[in-house]
Amino acid sequence: MTSPQTAYDVLIIGSGLAGLTVALQLPTRLRIAVLSKGAMTDGATPYAQGGVSAALDAADSIDAHVRDTLEASAGLSDPKIARLVATQAREAIEWLLDQEVPFSRSHPGEGTIGLHLHREGGHSHRRVVHAEDATGLAISRTLAERVQERPNIELLEGRYAVDLITGARLGQARDGCYGAYVLNQASGAVELIYAPAVVLACGGASKVYLYSTSPYAATGDGIAMAWRAGCQVANLEFNQFHPTCLYHPQERSFLISEAVRGEGGRLLLPTGERFMERFDQRGELAPRDIVARAIDHEMKRLGAECLYLDISHRPAEEIRERFPNIHKRCLELGLDMTREPLPIVPAAHYTCGGVVTDGAGRTSVPGLYAVGETACTGLHGANRLASNSLLECLVFGAAAAGDIAAREPRYESLPQLPEWDESRVTDSDEQVVVSHNWSELRRAMWNYVGIVRTDRRLERATRRIDLLMREVQEYYTHFRISGDLIELRNLILVAKLTVRCAFRRRESRGLHYTLDFPERDEAQCSPTLLVPGRPRPFAHLRRSNR
Ligand code: FAD
Ligand code: SIN
Repeated sequence: MTSPQTAYDVLIIGSGLAGLTVALQLPTRLRIAVLSKGAMTDGATPYAQGGVSAALDAADSIDAHVRDTLEASAGLSDPKIARLVATQAREAIEWLLDQEVPFSRSHPGEGTIGLHLHREGGHSHRRVVHAEDATGLAISRTLAERVQERPNIELLEGRYAVDLITGARLGQARDGCYGAYVLNQASGAVELIYAPAVVLACGGASKVYLYSTSPYAATGDGIAMAWRAGCQVANLEFNQFHPTCLYHPQERSFLISEAVRGEGGRLLLPTGERFMERFDQRGELAPRDIVARAIDHEMKRLGAECLYLDISHRPAEEIRERFPNIHKRCLELGLDMTREPLPIVPAAHYTCGGVVTDGAGRTSVPGLYAVGETACTGLHGANRLASNSLLECLVFGAAAAGDIAAREPRYESLPQLPEWDESRVTDSDEQVVVSHNWSELRRAMWNYVGIVRTDRRLERATRRIDLLMREVQEYYTHFRISGDLIELRNLILVAKLTVRCAFRRRESRGLHYTLDFPERDEAQCSPTLLVPGRPRPFAHLRRSNR
C-alpha cells in the first residue's frame, strides 16, 4: 500500500531557515519533502529584521561571541554548544553568501570584511550581518529560489502535520520515526507521508501569548508532536519577550529591531526621561530579558500603556538608509522615526526551550530530528542573545543534514503503516469553540505566565489550561480536524509544559522571573528537563472512530 506520491527519503516539517538549510545541505540523490502550513514563507524567518551574528570583524573574536552568549543566557547556555556555534558562524555566513543572499555591504573604510555589521543588545562588538532591516526576508527569498532549482526537493504548502508515526505509537517494541499524518488543507484529507528520516523544523510557540511579534504559524506544533512521540523537552519557562514591539492599534505585532538601539536608539518614559541606566549599566544595550523587564516595570509603575524608543537625534538620512522598511512601515502608520519617538511595548518573541537535541539535531527517537526554534540545543540557556537564532538554524541545519546523509535513508525500506481513519467522526457544528478557547488560552498565558510570575499566577494558569485541555481533547475526539484545531491542541499542550517548567524553577534566572523567588540560585543552574512517559499507542488515543 505504499504510495510513491506520499513516500520520501526525508520529510522536513517546516520551510523556515532551519528546514530549508537541512533540505539544501542534503545530497541531491535523496528525495525530500518540505511541508509548510500556509505558504512556504509563513514562518518567523521572513520576519527577522536584525540579522545573523558572527564574529567576523578583525577586532572581534569567537571567544567574545561565546562570552556574550553565555552572559546573555544567565549562565545556562551550554559552553560547548556555544563554542561550536560561534566557531561555525563564519562558515554559515559564507554558505549564505554562496546562495547569493544580498547582505548589506560596508562603506569604504568601515570594518574589515566587506559586510556591514550591526550591533545589538548583549553583544560586546558589532557582529550582526544583515540585509538592511529585512534580513529574514532576503534569506527566505534567496533560499526559496535555490530550493526551486532542486528537483529532488518537493515543497508541499498548505499541509499541517498532525502527529508523528513512531514505533512506540504503533505498539512496537522498537522505536523509530516513520513519517507523519498530515492534513491537506485544500482537500481536507489526512494523508500519510512515509519517511525514514523526519525533521521537525516547525519554529517556536510565541503565539501562546496574546501579544506577540511572531507569525500565526508559531503555535509550537513541533514541540507538541515531539512530546506526544516520547521526546524530552526542556527550558520552556524561558519565553523571550522582545522589548520593542510597535504599540499601534492598526499594527499589533510589528517589531522595531534591536539594531535601532544598537545604532543609538534611546528608551524613554512618557515624560521623555531615559531610565535604562537605573536597571543596568549597559543601558539600552543590556540583554533582552533585562530591558523587557525594565520596560514592564516602568509601565506598571506609571500605569502607562506604552513607553517610547527614540532615534530621532541621529541624522535622518542615516536612519532611512539603515532602517528603510521600519521607517516606511512607521510612516504608513503616521509615525516618522526621523522626527519623533516611537511608542513601544514588550511582546512574546522567541521560544528558548524546545525539543532536546544533541549536536547533530538528533532527538531521543531514532530517525527523528529537531532543528531551529523548535529545538533546545543548549545554546540559548535562560535567554537568547540577539541574532543567535538564525545562526543556530544554519549550524544545526547543516549538522542534521550531515547526520541524515550518513545514514542513507531510503523509503523503500519502510514497514506498512495504518492509514488515518475518519470514518466515524463528524463535522463540527460549533467551530467558534476553537476561536474562543484559543483567545482564552493566550490571554491566560499573557496574564499569568508573562514577564513577571508568581506561584499563584501559575496555579491560576494551570486551572484554566487543564479545563481547556479537556474541552479541546473532547472536541478533537469527535470532530473532523482542521488547521485551527490542530494548532490549538498543540498550543494548549505547550502551555501546559511551559507552566510545568516554570513551576520547577524555584529561582529567577534570565527570562524566568518570579516574585516568590526573586534571586538567582547557582545551585539551580541546570536546564529544566521534562521526560514524557512511554507514548500511548495510537489505538489507545481513540478518536471516536478507533
Ligand atoms: P520558522 O521560520 O518559524 O518556520 C516554521 C515553519 O514550520 C513554517 O514553514 C511553518 O508553516 C512550519 N510548520 C509549523 N508547524 C507545522 C505543522 N504542524 N505542519 C507543517 N508545517 C509546520 N532571529 C535572529 O537570529 N535574528 C533576527 O534578526 C531575528 N529577528 C526576528 C524578528 C521577528 C519579528 C521574529 C518573530 C523573530 C526574529 N528572530 C530573529 C527569530 C528567528 O526569526 C526565528 O527563531 C527563526 O526564523 C526560526 O526559524 P525556523 O526555521 O526554526 O522556523
Ligand atoms: C531584532 O531585530 O531585534 C530581532 C533580533 C532577534 O530576535 O534576534
